[in-house]
Amino acid sequence: MRRPGDHSRTEAARRDQPAPSPLAAEVLRGLQSERKTLPPKLFYDAAGAALFERICEQPEYYPTRAELEILEARAPEIAELAGPRCALIEYGSGAGVKVTLLLDAMERPAAYVPIDISRDQLCTVAADLAASYPDVAVRPLCGDYSQPLELPPLPPGARRVGFFPGSTIGNFHPAEATAFLRRIRRTVGTDGALILGVDRRKDAAVLDAAYNDASGVTAAFNLNLLTRLNRELGADFEVECFAHRAFFNSAASRVEMHLVSLDDQEVHVAGSTIRFEPGETIWTESSYKYDAERLDSVVGSAGFRVRMRWTDSEDRFWVAFLEAAD
Ligand code: AVJ
Repeated sequence: MRRPGDHSRTEAARRDQPAPSPLAAEVLRGLQSERKTLPPKLFYDAAGAALFERICEQPEYYPTRAELEILEARAPEIAELAGPRCALIEYGSGAGVKVTLLLDAMERPAAYVPIDISRDQLCTVAADLAASYPDVAVRPLCGDYSQPLELPPLPPGARRVGFFPGSTIGNFHPAEATAFLRRIRRTVGTDGALILGVDRRKDAAVLDAAYNDASGVTAAFNLNLLTRLNRELGADFEVECFAHRAFFNSAASRVEMHLVSLDDQEVHVAGSTIRFEPGETIWTESSYKYDAERLDSVVGSAGFRVRMRWTDSEDRFWVAFLEAAD
């Protein structure tokens, strides 16, 4: 980050070096702050997206199965609330499995806009869905949905229904979650809706296990972030000198994931030296767990209201149907 008094250094950098890439700038901002952080969206390079798919298959990681159970059981009710000829906009389409449950149940869906940061996966998924649903206009959009994005043209008059599954809303701190949902609210308009997946607050032991699977897949997913920075930014993280740590922070109602430095070490990242003390961490993810009160408050301050909320057979997860409230 540039500060007053930094001009000469900045000028020199401007003359001698190419402008830092957006990735480098974002990574340095996180690693040079007092409490080191990296944004969880950086997990999802091709290897990270594949590791996430494997996390979803781990016996301890229940959210994906719980959400699929709800979508399978409730797709007809969800489709009924959504109504006919919807334009479905999915924030973070991933492997594109969940949306087929909705598309199959909905009455003549008009369009599907998958938005994802993982370009290869997005292209594959969009092509497959376009082939399977010839009557649906599939319009993929590659990008970071936490930033404002311009939507492709949608069929005029189609009700816009957002789909934000997977409890990814949990990655946002409460104020960010409200701001993000408010932006979706503006995108879908006054008659719009949002189908939202949220993970429920529950016993710490269950949460700790879900983010510390015995096979170490979540650890590999977390550590892959460093491998990615080595490859894409020419950084020199020694991955063996960091360890995965995840725990439920009950006061904040979130699971936190960190990468713990096992040593006193220096790492070079995009032209800057980053110093780590032993035990110091990079905070790589928050995964907020919701109770009804938190859900109502975040949703309400974003201009939505909860029309319906469904849970799974073990009360672990919610799929909520939100409608524009104003
Ligand atoms: C994709 C954000 C929902 O928070 O549970 C899984 C990502 N991180 N295991 C989550 C994740 C570690 C996941 N979300």
